[in-house]
Amino acid sequence: MNPKAGSLVALFAAVAIAGAAPRERVRFDDGWRFLRLPETEAGGVSSPFPWEWRFANHAAIPGAPTLADLASPGDWQPARIGENVFRGGYRWAWFRATIPADPNGARKRLYFDAVDDTAEVYLNGKRLIRHEGWNEPFDVPVAEAWNPNGPNQVVVLVDNTGGGGGIIGSVRFEEPRAESFPKASPSYPDRTWRPVHLPHDYVVEGTFRRDADGSHGFLPKPMAWYRKTFSLPKDWQGRKVWLEFDGVYRDARVFLNGQPVHRHPSGYIGFRIDLSRANFGRPNTLAIRVDPRQNEGWWYEGGGIYRHVWLNATDPIHVLPNGVFVRSEVEGETATVSIDAEATNAGAKSASVAMESTLVDPSGRTVATMATDATLAPTAVGKVRHRIRIPKPVLWDLETPRLYTLRTTLRRGRRVLDEVRTPFGIRTIRWDKDRGFFLNGRHVLLKGTCNHQDHAGVGVAIPDRLQWWRIRKLKEMGSNAYRCSHNPPAPEVLEACDRFGMLVLDETRHFGDTTMSKSPGNTGYDDLWEFKELLRRDRNHPSVIAWSVANEEPIIGTPLGARVYEAMKRVAAELDPTRITTGALNFGWDSGAGPLVDLMGFNYNIDQWDRVRAKYPEKPMFGSETASTVSTRGVYANDPVRGYVSAYDVNHPQWGATAERAWKAVVERPWIAGGFVWTGFDYKGEPTPYEWPCINSHFGILDIAGFPKDNFFYYQAWWSDRPVLHVLPHWNWPDRLGQTINVWVHSNADRVELLLNGRSLGAKEMPRYGHLEWDVPYAPGTLEARGTRAGQPTLTRLVQTTGAPAALRLSSDWKDVLADQEDAALVAVEVVDADGNVVSTADNRVSFRVEGEGRVVGVGNGDPSDHDPDTATSRRAFNGKCMVLVGRAARKGRLTVIATAPGLRAAQLTLPVIRQ
Ligand code: GAL
Repeated sequence: MNPKAGSLVALFAAVAIAGAAPRERVRFDDGWRFLRLPETEAGGVSSPFPWEWRFANHAAIPGAPTLADLASPGDWQPARIGENVFRGGYRWAWFRATIPADPNGARKRLYFDAVDDTAEVYLNGKRLIRHEGWNEPFDVPVAEAWNPNGPNQVVVLVDNTGGGGGIIGSVRFEEPRAESFPKASPSYPDRTWRPVHLPHDYVVEGTFRRDADGSHGFLPKPMAWYRKTFSLPKDWQGRKVWLEFDGVYRDARVFLNGQPVHRHPSGYIGFRIDLSRANFGRPNTLAIRVDPRQNEGWWYEGGGIYRHVWLNATDPIHVLPNGVFVRSEVEGETATVSIDAEATNAGAKSASVAMESTLVDPSGRTVATMATDATLAPTAVGKVRHRIRIPKPVLWDLETPRLYTLRTTLRRGRRVLDEVRTPFGIRTIRWDKDRGFFLNGRHVLLKGTCNHQDHAGVGVAIPDRLQWWRIRKLKEMGSNAYRCSHNPPAPEVLEACDRFGMLVLDETRHFGDTTMSKSPGNTGYDDLWEFKELLRRDRNHPSVIAWSVANEEPIIGTPLGARVYEAMKRVAAELDPTRITTGALNFGWDSGAGPLVDLMGFNYNIDQWDRVRAKYPEKPMFGSETASTVSTRGVYANDPVRGYVSAYDVNHPQWGATAERAWKAVVERPWIAGGFVWTGFDYKGEPTPYEWPCINSHFGILDIAGFPKDNFFYYQAWWSDRPVLHVLPHWNWPDRLGQTINVWVHSNADRVELLLNGRSLGAKEMPRYGHLEWDVPYAPGTLEARGTRAGQPTLTRLVQTTGAPAALRLSSDWKDVLADQEDAALVAVEVVDADGNVVSTADNRVSFRVEGEGRVVGVGNGDPSDHDPDTATSRRAFNGKCMVLVGRAARKGRLTVIATAPGLRAAQLTLPVIRQ
């Protein structure tokens, strides 16, 4: 494109042209068929021969194994493939196995699905390969060291730089063979496959098993297939038509009408499938195989087409996907909006076009239009830049998250060829080495949470309005920042953050790429396709304030780490000069990439903060990951047998801290821009501090079903402006009559008085960023807390000894359910006594059914050790509460959810089901 200088042109009404709309963009989520493939043992982890292992002598490594290290036969132990042998720590281990006699052995290869972190593979004492990359498959031919007369001893030296490790994926010994995919064939009979609507996570539908991968929630992760038959209108032939997948977990193999068209390794960054060679006016078969057996992270990652799919159709001359970049600067009373737009011509002839940018303000009023004429040759990518001044802009801010819309229109004469809408916000951000973060010139202390992406009942396939709800819940706590740890989020998460006013630390999954070689020879200048896609996808969101390119990377402190960081920083600066990059470091501030990180992130390690600050006084810094406090909702003593941790703010792993200590460390240092607590919500996997029977994490301030734990109120007291007074624990202790109960109060009142059955137990001054405690001899009745501020009563809270469970009570923040087969209302279920008080110890089993439109979608209760499936129609209450998701309705009408439990009064709730 040959851009002429941009000129303001008079706005004229777009003339509707007969025929196709300029761009169709519709959901492609309906009408899929699904097949879950059978599992092999232990969720798919196996080896054809047995292994033994032992720790290696660290001092003697590296170096060729003289096999002296292997000589002491005594301390070898049987190894279970898939097992984490290291359980944290920087250590080395040997694994060995004897390959049984095999006449075809020399033609075979050893296939390793995953060795964590680095593997050196030896056969009969000869080194065959060194492989770096803790979660990537690799294979090695054995011919050069194979002994046809046997025995053949294979030895793997595993180097672990931190976290878990070992031979964590399957091992195979096979001849290379061509893969075949009969299930991709259009004629393959899929009628018996289950119909599903996207988004869909099938791993969450599984059965918890002790031998499955605990980091991923003890759920098996077999492969699966999706198929969809679809037709495209005949008159779309010649248009540019493509599918956009927002996220598939993972390693999607895509076939169109039986032909392989794409393989996409990343489970977090989306991809596009060009449909120009599809059938128009005749059916097409799309088949996708997903393979979540390989991990990308160390938490629950789900499996399936778990985000939306979109069908796009436009003119061959069109705006490139993610081809619009809009940013703004504000000076005084005026904003300058800069627009970079990219268009391409997939047609056969050069074309003269006009590329137009129209700005629409938050009230819907068009405030400016600018157009550039250009000639676009076939296959060329044309770029235009428009700069538009806006007097008195409406700023995007946390409490007034007002969005403008940019309309990018491609015209040929009066005909609109393509049109794309980009919501954006006008705001300024600045990081200051001494004072932290500034939004629109105002200091904002980052009160953040880190989050993974799953929720009870649906796993990672979260309906859009549940995403919104999660963001709003965090906001209700007073949180103003969200770290997408450790992967690109669903687009709807960012839309919610833009819309409700939440700052975002947007994170890539891989330091480098999913496919990046971690070998020492790597220059660090890989394609970085994954990170580029993330930048192009997310750079228009006003909520995003920085790019996080690394989390606790083993190579961060090495020269390779430095090269990778520099490469990523350069790419970020090219594609988005408006934001800074950061790394979330738990070590390595002093070497490799550490000194290069522009915005220094601390994961934990409070004792390092002042030292690193003194060393790099010019860098802004923040707590990229803090606290990791562990607690179980409604539980007030640690219980290692059932896997519960007390909800007083007292428990954390050795690297973490209590909420109170972690937050005080932030507020005591004005140069720390804020902190991101690990985590907002509980998630499946990483069941720290226990293992089985726990299947989900305990780090959440809210549990996995979305119920607040007590620490929610600690944060709300010190993060929000609303008056907070919260008393813990509950007051049902029939076995502890006369015994001392430790009572805590989280509050932002100046002073709190505690009373038991009307008798004062004394008033205390609330320490800033602290809490209050009383030791109270237990007697049933009413515990009352009275808060005052500046001598004036603010709030009173009563905690009562309740009667026996008598009834169920339902409530929902959803006012309606969308008839889009996706939306699901989160309905909270409480077990109450005859007076309507929540019975905080109740564990009644509650059954659900839906009348009218929709169905029961999933259930949850926040119990980290409950092995009932998420996709079921009943759930035990856990400490008085459980939740049900209802919806996925296809038609308008009403949805009534009915909850019943033996011996309790049933409850029901009706919601209208509407079309948007
Ligand atoms: C961090 C890590 C997180 C999570 C957390 C648990 O070190 O970055 O992903 O594992 O620990 O405390």
